Amino acid sequence: MSKFIRKKIAFVLTGMLLAIVLISCEAVPVAEAPSPEVTFTNVSSSPVASPDGELSASPAQLPKLPYDYAALGKAIDAETMKLHHDGHHASYVNNLNDALKEEPDLQTSSVEALLRDLNNVPENIRTKVRNNGGGHLNHTIFWQIMSPDGGGEPTDEIAAEINETFGSFDQFKEQFNQAGGDRFGSGWVWLVRNPAGELQIVTTANQDNPIMDGAYPIMGNDVWEHAYYLRYRNRRGEYLTNWWNVVNWPEINKRSLASMQSGN
Ligand SMILES: [Fe+2]
Repeated sequence: MSKFIRKKIAFVLTGMLLAIVLISCEAVPVAEAPSPEVTFTNVSSSPVASPDGELSASPAQLPKLPYDYAALGKAIDAETMKLHHDGHHASYVNNLNDALKEEPDLQTSSVEALLRDLNNVPENIRTKVRNNGGGHLNHTIFWQIMSPDGGGEPTDEIAAEINETFGSFDQFKEQFNQAGGDRFGSGWVWLVRNPAGELQIVTTANQDNPIMDGAYPIMGNDVWEHAYYLRYRNRRGEYLTNWWNVVNWPEINKRSLASMQSGN
């Protein structure tokens, strides 16, 4: 074998070796682990359903409760929780999907986007989307801002801002409970960040959400009778008072932070 051919073979072998090394060093694609919940979708920089994302409408799904039915016993009994989550919230989800079944374009929007721009929803399904999309969003927020370990005084930044805005935590609770008690019929009482960036207590009728008025819902209590009737009968005031025993301040602080970063 000539010196020239030996050199050529050595050159080809070196090239092949180099190629093998380069291929073996390439990052191996790793399949993403399937998410157990596909409820949230990040389609906006201002998520409202959770600081983690907005609510998907393709299709809407009932989120799991983050605790047992009996876990909030300091304020709400297990039977009410089961009916509320598995019955009422599930109905809002099913009815929303039913309303959107002929509207594939709308299904690509988040529930929040649909509620912010209801005029974009065809008139024949607008009320159904408003009530059931709102019901789905409101209850998704509600389960997260309660906790078996909740209650007590507010913590971190929200504590200071509540004191600054309302004078004290006690005065804030009093005003919040008063507004919830005065809400005629069914609805919600909320602490929101209003379009001016300030904390404010507001109420909404039925299943409306504050994002429909350009405000960001930081925390809210459900004052529909279905939220308290089994234990409290018609005593909404007693329910409003006990509810503070399960309020999840760490989650509310996260939401308050999100509210400052959002356009709501
Ligand atoms: Fe409810």
